[in-house]
Amino acid sequence: MSSDEMKKRAAEAALKYVEENTVVGIGTGSTVNHFIDALSRIKHRIEGAVSSSEATTQRLKAHKIPVLDLNAAGPLPLYVDGADEANRHLQLIKGGGGALTREKIIAAASDQFICIADQTKLVDVLGTFPLPVEVIPMARSHVGRELLKRGGQPVLRENFITDNGNLILDVYNLRILDPAKLETEFNNIAGVVTVGLFALRPADVLLLGTPDGVQALKP
Ligand code: 5RP
Repeated sequence: MSSDEMKKRAAEAALKYVEENTVVGIGTGSTVNHFIDALSRIKHRIEGAVSSSEATTQRLKAHKIPVLDLNAAGPLPLYVDGADEANRHLQLIKGGGGALTREKIIAAASDQFICIADQTKLVDVLGTFPLPVEVIPMARSHVGRELLKRGGQPVLRENFITDNGNLILDVYNLRILDPAKLETEFNNIAGVVTVGLFALRPADVLLLGTPDGVQALKP
């Protein structure tokens, strides 16, 4: 079975967490796109969605799902998003699609965070996937040097500007044994907007698509 089919399975399984007449927080990425497609089947039963990116907004609008502002809608009962890596504590690396800052804001503002992914995303130790860090443009070199001092190998994501007008440094060479500590440490570097580690606010449930069905993991 392809990884896309496993992503679709996980996305479909997340539908059961959606409650009637609520606003749903929506992440970004190919797995989330399957979720949006599934959500469109029950769009008459929800009030709308809060979007984490321009790409997600476009897809929601294409399905005629109302897109609401978080300031008006929040706090939210549910946030659904994908991940680039997840460990068994449901701590995540996110930001492969560059939407990490808005994703982290919506996750923080939501009661329940359901992460949807194919089984290849589950790892023992986070860090094989390069860790995305969103950076204010004038701080690019400073943040790069600080990340080097901490053992990372930052690489500027080429030809990429985030929805917030910032840059992404993808940090290689990390073996993240204490994700919450590293999240705090990287977030404290001046010029960092967000680090794509979701450890201080991990997922509450990880729905993993596998060839045998969907596994629901809890911390
Ligand atoms: C976007 C993300 C995505 O959730 C992550 O990159 C996973 O993407 P996909 O579902 O396409 O595998 O964090 O910023």
